[in-house]
Amino acid sequence: MVEPALDEGLWVCDSAALVERGKGVQWELLYCGREERAFALRFDGQVVAYLNRCAHVPTELDWQPDEFLDSDKRYILCAVHGAVYSPSTGACVMGRCGRAGLIPVTVTEANGQVRWYPSQHQRPLPPPDPSEPPPAPLP
Ligand code: FES
Repeated sequence: MVEPALDEGLWVCDSAALVERGKGVQWELLYCGREERAFALRFDGQVVAYLNRCAHVPTELDWQPDEFLDSDKRYILCAVHGAVYSPSTGACVMGRCGRAGLIPVTVTEANGQVRWYPSQHQRPLPPPDPSEPPPAPLP
């Protein structure tokens, strides 16, 4: 099996999937060896990406699937206790998120694609084991 060229980044979505202050696009990765989700958003024209993990309690942020922004579309809001984060920087603005803020994921946008770049602590999921049977279809 050919390993993806990590220095070229890994496909997240087509650029058109991220509308200004719209829903996020999520994908799975390994963070410090654990499966986690990350999300990308378009905010003020820029694509930003973070782990889907609140700084208060390591739980996912979205209040509906892929919905990360508050009703005014100004901040990322944690659905659990209402911590508020800057979409541009991931910094905690208000609430129980403390100084830590969101954990950024490096992304780029070029040629109509958004790609993410693994790091020491953020790695792609391993490819599926071909010896394992495929998952059963959902009922
Ligand atoms: S879990 Fe997010 S503010 Fe508490």
